[in-house]
Amino acid sequence: MGRSPLLFPDPLRYDPARWARREDNNFKALAFGFGSRQCIGRRIAETEIMLFLVHMLKNFHIDTVCKDDIKTVFGFILMPEKPPLLTFRPI
Ligand code: HEM
Repeated sequence: MGRSPLLFPDPLRYDPARWARREDNNFKALAFGFGSRQCIGRRIAETEIMLFLVHMLKNFHIDTVCKDDIKTVFGFILMPEKPPLLTFRPI
């Protein structure tokens, strides 16, 4: 679904901002499944992810060593081809 040009223009481009646009993104990503058997830990997981991000972004300047586009590979889930090298400078 995430790679379908019917749902996303230029779907293979790394473009996190696509999720911040005002268009309807409901049901375009179902990382936790949907319906009566959807992930029971969804809210815990989302809260942990949010807390982790807030702590990191409040306390560190994060930069990439390489400015090239991150290439992805599919191995059950979509992953970076190589681990992206990041630098963390305390604020
Ligand atoms: C990023 C973190 C997580 C992801 C992406 C994830 C994803 C999923 C997915 C895709 C399913 C299957 C949903 C379906 O069949 O439609 C699932 C089921 C489930 N998850 Fe998670 N999960 C995450 C974290 C957690 C956590 C933190 C817990 C427990 C605290 C948890 C507990 C469960 C359980 C018990 C089920 C089975 C629900 C059922 O079959 O009724 N998950 N999860």
